[in-house]
Amino acid sequence: MLVALLGLGDIGLGAHLPALERHPAIEIALLADVSPERRRAATEYGSGPGRRGVPRYEVGSGLDDVLAAGVDGVVFATPPWVTPDLVVRAAQAGLCVLAEKPVATSIEAAAVYAQLSPAERARVQVGLTYRHDPAIQTLAGWIANGVLGTPLLVRAHIYDEMRRLDDVEHLERMHATLERGMPVIHEGAHVLDWLSYLLQGRPERIDGAWSLQTATDLPAPNLVGARLIYPGGHVALAEFGWMTDSLPRCEITVLGDRGYAVLDGTDFTLTLNNRELVRFDGEKVPRCFDRQVERFVALHTGGPAEPSLADGIAALRTAEEIATRASGESR
Ligand SMILES: NC(=O)c1ccc[n+]([C@@H]2O[C@H](COP(=O)([O-])OP(=O)(O)OC[C@H]3O[C@@H](n4cnc5c(N)ncnc54)[C@H](O)[C@@H]3O)[C@@H](O)[C@H]2O)c1
Repeated sequence: MLVALLGLGDIGLGAHLPALERHPAIEIALLADVSPERRRAATEYGSGPGRRGVPRYEVGSGLDDVLAAGVDGVVFATPPWVTPDLVVRAAQAGLCVLAEKPVATSIEAAAVYAQLSPAERARVQVGLTYRHDPAIQTLAGWIANGVLGTPLLVRAHIYDEMRRLDDVEHLERMHATLERGMPVIHEGAHVLDWLSYLLQGRPERIDGAWSLQTATDLPAPNLVGARLIYPGGHVALAEFGWMTDSLPRCEITVLGDRGYAVLDGTDFTLTLNNRELVRFDGEKVPRCFDRQVERFVALHTGGPAEPSLADGIAALRTAEEIATRASGESR
């Protein structure tokens, strides 16, 4: 499968490119980014002393270069405010697409996806990367098999992106991202997708939501949470936080009358009833990105897009509802 990677930022060069390189069925035709700096970084990628400074890949500046390269598929590791138009153009050009989450920063912005025909939509896989992890699948199995009982209380405490005042690039990126939505829009894409996957349905209602901005120089509240009611009476208390000097534990806990499961949000180890520890091979990030690429190769040979564009839009819809409720109810 001949592919291009568009968006050579943190996750593009840090996780997508290595995963694409590791897959034996993938050949990389082109890397592309609008930023000259990021193109320079890509030119230097992997061109260490052993390669005597020879760039490993062709580098282009945008989607036109990708479309001209005659690839079978493209990975978009671009910010969510530019991703929707790129996805529509690439899918309409007949390419298989793996697009980073969230699929847009609002449901209004996601309306462009309505231009896609069913066949084009079926070629769009969304980068809800951690859905592929065996830890999520094991937890889903425990829930489906009644190991924990029913109904369940789920507490999702998702804290990431610690404020690092010495890292100007990170600060600028986080400010630009917060300007386009609270953390629930961005981190929520993953977590709301897991919750729907684990609890087998979208939330029936949002019982309450809150937000808090912990520093005046931030463009939006950086802490946000909600109480969600799922089919079957499951209750999820979800909270998302960024940009504090220290972070609470990142974890998801699931409690029912028969059992208690804890998913460590950092490395995805699982415990059951405070005893059994389930660890999976390898590190979480490469493990999930490799599985994601495997699905992308399967998509190219006729398999389903998983997670699908519909999954990505469903997670965004819930995230936006939480953000709207939280804005109205913030103190
Ligand atoms: N799946 C995951 O685990 C995961 C992890 C981190 C980030 N993400 C998502 O990945 C996306 C990128 O995040 P990041 O942290 O790498 O951001 P980043 O800002 O570091 O990288 C984005 C890159 O896209 C480039 N770009 C912007 N517009 C472009 C265009 N029109 N054409 C080509 N290139 C363009 C930018 O120049 C930049 O290099 C975000 O949507 C983020 O939510 C996903």
